[in-house]
Amino acid sequence: MKAFRNEPYTDFTKPENRKKMEKVLAEVEAEFGKDYPLIIGREKITVDNKLKSFNPSKKDQVVGVFNKADERIAEKMIQAALEAFETWRFTPARVRANYLFKMAGIMRRRKLELAAWMVYEVGKNWMEADADVAESIDFCDYYGREALRYDTGPRLLQSPGEKDTQTYIPLGVGLVVPPWNFPLAILTGMTTAAFGAGNTVILKPSSDSPAIAAKFVEVAEEAGVPPGVVNFMPGPGALAGDYLVRHAKTRFIAFTGSKQVGLRIVELAGQTQPGQLWIKRVVAEMGGKDAIVVDSEADVDSAVSGTVVAAFGFQGQKCSACSRLILDEKIYDQFIQKFIPRVNAIKVGPVNEFEYWMGPVINGSAFESMLEYIKIGKSEGKLLAGGEPARSDGWFIKPTVFGEIGPKTRLFQEEIFGPILAVARAKNYDHAIELANDTEYGLTGAVYTKNRKKIERAKKEVFCGNLYINRKCSGALVGVHPFGGFNMSGTDSKAGGPDYLLLFTQAKAIAEFVGKKSKAKAKPTTVSPSGTSGRREKTRA
Ligand code: UN1
Repeated sequence: MKAFRNEPYTDFTKPENRKKMEKVLAEVEAEFGKDYPLIIGREKITVDNKLKSFNPSKKDQVVGVFNKADERIAEKMIQAALEAFETWRFTPARVRANYLFKMAGIMRRRKLELAAWMVYEVGKNWMEADADVAESIDFCDYYGREALRYDTGPRLLQSPGEKDTQTYIPLGVGLVVPPWNFPLAILTGMTTAAFGAGNTVILKPSSDSPAIAAKFVEVAEEAGVPPGVVNFMPGPGALAGDYLVRHAKTRFIAFTGSKQVGLRIVELAGQTQPGQLWIKRVVAEMGGKDAIVVDSEADVDSAVSGTVVAAFGFQGQKCSACSRLILDEKIYDQFIQKFIPRVNAIKVGPVNEFEYWMGPVINGSAFESMLEYIKIGKSEGKLLAGGEPARSDGWFIKPTVFGEIGPKTRLFQEEIFGPILAVARAKNYDHAIELANDTEYGLTGAVYTKNRKKIERAKKEVFCGNLYINRKCSGALVGVHPFGGFNMSGTDSKAGGPDYLLLFTQAKAIAEFVGKKSKAKAKPTTVSPSGTSGRREKTRA
């Protein structure tokens, strides 16, 4: 098998690629308004209680119609997943991995189409949407390889007369709750890791991006993933999600989203239910309040470019996004002078048109929350750019920058999850690091400096799961930058890294007594009738 490599991005500077994308966008738009069923094992059902998903660039445009699961349906979901688990758990890793590789191939073929759904349903620009599909392909390709790698357990010391092995077995049925901001990539990563490792899942997509989730399920179906392995359950968390978090047969919950919801899941999952045989495992990736530090000895131009993309790429709606900019006071004015014109030049509008780099925030309540934070920002600092809606056909907010923000302010501490950047002034490098670490989160961070000693200090002292030096703090690549953070950013689950699949397995150690046939040439040992070696017993005595 070929070594893993990251999927390349589509080059939209080429007119032929832009033409193709325009055509695909039109084709996808023609599919709007379709009703997508709930998928429970082999069954596809619709109910009266519907959920609509909208295009945030065009407030009233319905992208798709979905069926809301309630507790009764959630119960059917878990029964279907439990049943499928009985075969899937013993399906060889090679077979499971092949489904993942097939899915990667299908996504590659449907790349622009999947990207187009994201442009419409969540307001990603073409490049961001294309990168999201590339990352999804990467997750399938990477976790497929990981499933094969984990299939061969580690080499253990061999006790004489024994064959000693350790294998990784799946956990059981899991609830997967991905976010809307990487509606294909993170959803794909969490889901394929879980079922690639031999579990079966109930996939509860975000109510803001169920159409893309439905496309993922189509891809899994097309790849031939057996019924019941991935069950599709849109609907509000309160209706069906909580029920499954609490359920005695739920073995694990994989969640990416806000701190508030993540902590609630941890709490609910911690309450053992009657008949529950295990301690539920929660894999949670939550918020961030990520800082970029620009030192007095930094390449300011490069830091300006990195910050523009990290703060305003996908409207700042990434938990990896830069939301705190910490500038050494020696370069503060110089940086701001170069930075603000770049921010003001960003074109905000409906991202189905290629010319708009920045799109809308996800929905009406996000829009209201941005207006609220803009109000707060005006009272806590100095408005340097934006600070108002951009246009009224969608949920558009201008890229907004507040300067002179103090460390204990709401703008500096709270996760805003939108295009609002807080800028703080640091007295020196020590102070800059202190400010960067002054947060309850610890997801990503970046430090720009040319000074080697300061780089080494940053590596030791900046406390976050993903630290970047002299580059932007977003855009982690599968296999290259295992992604996940500290403290209130989650369980440091390191998605896209070599430890991730482990989270969806449990290790079983097997010692088989093989007696004299063993070739082990260790010191002669006496073996007690119970099968434990005499030598071991002696050391214990
Ligand atoms: C997130 O926003 O939840 O590093 C994660 C990045 C992406 C992951 C973002 N690969 O920007």
